[in-house]
Amino acid sequence: MNGPSAAELVGKRDLLDTEHLERAFVERLLAEAASFEEVLHRPVPVVPALRGKTVAVAFFEPSTRTRVSFELAAKRLSADVISFSAAGSSVAKGESLIDTASTLRAMGADCVVVRHGSSGAAAQIARVLDVPVVNAGDGSHQHPTQALADLYTVRKHKGDREGLRVTVVGDILHSRVARSVVTLFASVGHSLTCVGPPTLLPRFAGSWPCSFQTSLDDVLPETDVLMLLRLQFERGAGAAIGSPEEYRRRYCIDAARKDLLPKGALIMHPGPVNRGIEVSSDVLDSEKSVVTEQVSSGVAVRMAVLYLLCLGEGEPQDGGASR
Ligand code: CP
Repeated sequence: MNGPSAAELVGKRDLLDTEHLERAFVERLLAEAASFEEVLHRPVPVVPALRGKTVAVAFFEPSTRTRVSFELAAKRLSADVISFSAAGSSVAKGESLIDTASTLRAMGADCVVVRHGSSGAAAQIARVLDVPVVNAGDGSHQHPTQALADLYTVRKHKGDREGLRVTVVGDILHSRVARSVVTLFASVGHSLTCVGPPTLLPRFAGSWPCSFQTSLDDVLPETDVLMLLRLQFERGAGAAIGSPEEYRRRYCIDAARKDLLPKGALIMHPGPVNRGIEVSSDVLDSEKSVVTEQVSSGVAVRMAVLYLLCLGEGEPQDGGASR
């Protein structure tokens, strides 16, 4: 007989995507992140908020920014950290995703942060674990904490006014960041346009709350926030663009394209960057670029995520994200 899962019985809260986040939760989280950012600037940047808790950071796919920032965020909150990489683990002997996650839980994890190459992996774990699960990127599906860090970064520059014109450029088809950013930014009142070669736009995009374009130069003069995406060669982007040179000609943000942007526009990229293909080095290091700030914001935002989920605070999410 199929009864409720352990997870359903416990009433925990996960962060699996940006589609089911309530506005009140987003605002609470961004406010908490601002107070944690203040902590990060103290001489001793640590608070005891999660003392006694254990955060498992389980990565089945490569990462620099997300992994390090989750580990740092947990440590800044005084949590203990279990750091797990699939490489060199019993995954190589055939252990399943669920058995691996259950093993981390059995060792005392109070929260599991997971990155995986397959869409839906975090949700699969969330269904069976009785502790909060945070999706740190699953396949081409979602990367909610990246989008939250990006929104936090934009708010720092533009305040909380609505109606910003946000242009997302590049490999939309394979990008979990694009999906996460589009749904989150639209939910707080911004206007989204996704731009890329036709072969890198989603085929079934009816439900995306944005418009689509293939000509970047037409959109740049009406862009307040320009979000560049990495070409995901490991997911087949190479076959979709003809050649890197062709992509560079139409979509690379070089000095000339930067000059098409309005004064005060922000240039963002979640990283890692293919320099010279998505953006030129001089633009990446220019006054309009907030790429480094996105990384710093990621620590404060992930502190807020761990804090709210581990302590069971904040507004509940719906649509399966709330348990
Ligand atoms: N933006 C991002 O997810 O980067 P990493 O793959 O380095 O974590």
